[in-house]
Amino acid sequence: MKPPRSHGRQSVRPTLKPRELMQDTPTYADVWQARVITLFPDLFPGVLGASLTGKALQAGTWQLHTHDLRAHGIGKHLNVDDTPAGGGAGMVMRADVVGPAIEAAQAHAHGRWPILYMSPRGRRFDQGMARDLASCAGVTLLCGRFEGVDERVIEHYAITEVSLGDFVMTGGELAAQAMIDATVRLLPGVLGNAESAVEESHSNGLLEHPQYTRPPIWQDRDIPPVLMSGNHQEIAKWRQMESERLTRERRPDLWQAQKK
Ligand SMILES: C[S@@+](CC[C@H](N)C(=O)[O-])C[C@H]1O[C@@H](n2cnc3c(N)ncnc32)[C@H](O)[C@@H]1O
Repeated sequence: MKPPRSHGRQSVRPTLKPRELMQDTPTYADVWQARVITLFPDLFPGVLGASLTGKALQAGTWQLHTHDLRAHGIGKHLNVDDTPAGGGAGMVMRADVVGPAIEAAQAHAHGRWPILYMSPRGRRFDQGMARDLASCAGVTLLCGRFEGVDERVIEHYAITEVSLGDFVMTGGELAAQAMIDATVRLLPGVLGNAESAVEESHSNGLLEHPQYTRPPIWQDRDIPPVLMSGNHQEIAKWRQMESERLTRERRPDLWQAQKK
């Protein structure tokens, strides 16, 4: 077994269960943190506990904390929601429940630390936002359920609403994990090959060129000969052209933005 790698601050603990990756560890000012406010803390780390983000979590390159909304629930039944003012379907998350949860999360905040509400009404998340989040000290992500959160909370804490896309999910947890994943892989030391964040789709406003690997022939299909030529200049040229072609064909909006 390889000896644990040290990042100068804490050693890597051998652990197999995803939730153990989130065990309370000392909080260091220079470690990027995500604080997630949710009714379902057991859904975390979820996909973030696997692969590169999971390894980086275990190595202490970033930290993940959940804040259980139920802990701030009201009354004997710890209610977190109530019927919408003005009537209508569904339930709304109470301001006097969500507010204290935000206060608890923000007690750990320092430096530039936005509060994001996962919301289909929000600005669509993109690579630029992931880059910006990666340059913050941390982020607090509020996951809604039911019909969402009392508007006064959003106004009071100047929360930014961010959407994963133009569709409606049951809760914000999947959106939070997607946004954290996209951000964490941009933190220094998370991706094995520093090149891969530079060349991939959306990093330079273009979609990535097609990728191939062994076997050289599969189902009578060859790998484009230029990729087997060993001529790195020609390979780079081909990749750039393919990148541009795919962007033009699939995402005219990105292609137009490129030309400005
Ligand atoms: C059923 S949705 C509420 C939708 C809300 N009533 C509306 O029409 O805008 C419950 C929660 O799921 C999350 N959610 C749903 N779709 C989302 C999306 N596209 N992006 C981010 N979060 C989303 C939000 O946190 C939201 O509060």
